[in-house]
Amino acid sequence: MPTDTQKLAEEEDLLFRLLRQLEAAPDASQRATAAAVGVSLGKLNAQLRLAAEAGLIKISDRDGPDKRQRFAYAITVKGAAEQIRLRDNFLARKFAEYDALHAELTGTTSGLEPFKHRTKIMQNNLAPIPELYVSYDSAQKLKVEAADLTSHDLTPRQICDLELLMNGGFNPLKGFLSEEDYNGVVENMRLADGTLWPMPITLDVSEEFAGSIEIGQDIALRDQEGVILATMTVTDRWEPNKSVEAEKVFGADDDAHPAVNYLHNTAGKIYLGGPITGIQQPVHYDFRARRDTPNELRAYFRKLGWRKVVAFQTRNPLHRAHQELTFRAAKEAQANLLIHPIVGMTKPGDVDHFTRVRCYEAVLDKYPASTTTMSLLNLAMRMAGPREAVWHGLIRANHGCTHFIVGRDHAGPGKNSQGEDFYGPYDAQDLYRAHQDEIGAEMVDFKHMVYVQERAQYEPADEIADKDDVTILNISGTELRRRLAEGLEIPEWFSFPEVVKELRRTKPPRSQQGFTVFFTGFSGSGKSTIANALMVKLMEMGGRPVTLLDGDIVRKNLSSELGFSKEHRDLNIRRIGYVASEITKNGGIAICAPIAPYATTRRAVREDIEQFGAFVEVHVATSIEECERRDRKGLYKLAREGKIKEFTGISDPYDVPQNPELSVETENVEVDNCAHQVILKLESMGLIAAQ
Ligand code: PPS
Repeated sequence: MPTDTQKLAEEEDLLFRLLRQLEAAPDASQRATAAAVGVSLGKLNAQLRLAAEAGLIKISDRDGPDKRQRFAYAITVKGAAEQIRLRDNFLARKFAEYDALHAELTGTTSGLEPFKHRTKIMQNNLAPIPELYVSYDSAQKLKVEAADLTSHDLTPRQICDLELLMNGGFNPLKGFLSEEDYNGVVENMRLADGTLWPMPITLDVSEEFAGSIEIGQDIALRDQEGVILATMTVTDRWEPNKSVEAEKVFGADDDAHPAVNYLHNTAGKIYLGGPITGIQQPVHYDFRARRDTPNELRAYFRKLGWRKVVAFQTRNPLHRAHQELTFRAAKEAQANLLIHPIVGMTKPGDVDHFTRVRCYEAVLDKYPASTTTMSLLNLAMRMAGPREAVWHGLIRANHGCTHFIVGRDHAGPGKNSQGEDFYGPYDAQDLYRAHQDEIGAEMVDFKHMVYVQERAQYEPADEIADKDDVTILNISGTELRRRLAEGLEIPEWFSFPEVVKELRRTKPPRSQQGFTVFFTGFSGSGKSTIANALMVKLMEMGGRPVTLLDGDIVRKNLSSELGFSKEHRDLNIRRIGYVASEITKNGGIAICAPIAPYATTRRAVREDIEQFGAFVEVHVATSIEECERRDRKGLYKLAREGKIKEFTGISDPYDVPQNPELSVETENVEVDNCAHQVILKLESMGLIAAQ
């Protein structure tokens, strides 16, 4: 009786022979294939079915007159990877048998090492990979021709995606995904031909733009200054089911996830797909010398003879713990190190990339120059945790890296709207591990490094044997932000003085930063009165310039042409948000007091502002009945009579804020007291220093 291991080995050998035969002679008749593999016709058919179900081969109807041959077979990328794995297993078994025989005859092992397919990965990381750019001369010609094409103005995220499509960072993609590829990616992380690809790279546009395009038409893709970067032949146009995309790709249809929020509230309704012809790279004026295409990095590794390279992905400043862990990762993989930070788009609220790059440059000096390099990656992150890790690995493999560090909660988006984590802390590592061979960059899992005071060094938390006898120190990201915000000490064991200096330069203590107070509530709720009182109180304190953007003032000066449709209200609020974000960025205080009835618009404004400083939403919670009773401007009466249409609270909706920083009641409360409540809130948030 054969054992289970023997049976498995036989099945694996049969599958290997079948794949090899289909690869060598895809056009052979079934009879010939069965004979070559050494099985009956019936067994062959069963095997073919199993292989197709496992996604290793694709069976399609054969074209042409030869009706004896009904089916055509093609090995998928998954099939090719499986073939390599099976061959390795087969060789490993044969080596073991040979070793055993050798030992039986001579008393010693043979000393032969089984072949490892990983060497394939290492050889491939140095050869150039395909780009989508045409030659310089063709680009000059194409640019002139493309000026007559219908144009799409790319969003900042699409520019990031396009850059990596064109320079091979997203190899093997040849353009924005077609509908068939998109469906495969959303459903099971695979393109239609079976290739692993976990992230939908789609060109989202408005319904209006999509309606003006014919299938088969070429369009020009322009950056935000109008420069033509590429042309695209539109082969596909469809309306995606965004909720399905959110569920499958990001794990939940929950707007608390930044990419889901983007999907529903920023991305266009229609997707266009098709191949790209690259004309020129997006222009970057900052840190040019630090930006490399995949082929530039490959050439660099080739030149320096770096056969193994481990990449470290980051969207945060590097501190001593990161340096220690990257050192260890490089040692573990016996590889050189590439610090590969994201400078495209990261999580809203992250430290801006200008500050980060200055910090990285300071840290880079602490690495031995010959072992480590840094390059900036213009990727727009999606914060998709496990899928994002796989995507990051594929991108790093394209950039010539053989190893990739995956940490705890890699590319995690934070908490969902129920206050729970979107993904488990090691989900990303698990998904990566399962696809490692196909990704082409081996995972080095992240060690959680902590500082052991007695030994004055960093050590992996799970390797400290004398945990109870030593003092373990660690400063979390939240704690670091708190210390920076409050101007508190950041110890030398935690970070490098140069890094802390940079961070403090960009992020002075909160009491010196700009911020926005955003009042929202019904017309006549008392927003303007409280906002005016607050402004005067803040001016009395001094220190920072204060600007009041009251609903009525804005409508007179900024939005005089707008009415009260949803579209116009949104535009009005986005304008207020834009001005407030500029004021906040430059260290001032903006007080806004519009009705701002829609939650999604308020959230968008919050995101714009939080890049630069605090956003304090204050709900002036006067009930609609009380506002109508007061009817200070006589507008409610007119609204009831139908003389004013779309009146908030009467004939137009108001989304009550779910989590405002503060909610104030105005019934039976003095205005002065309401304004004082806001001042207390600002004090408790550290935005104004206590008097
Ligand atoms: S919005 O929705 O935020 O753009 O509104 P806002 O710019 O704050 O407009 C506020 C003032 O416009 C007056 N007004 C109306 N409000 C609501 N609905 C309709 N249809 C409308 N028509 C005119 C109203 O007086 C608002 O004043 P406030 O300062 O809120 O009392």
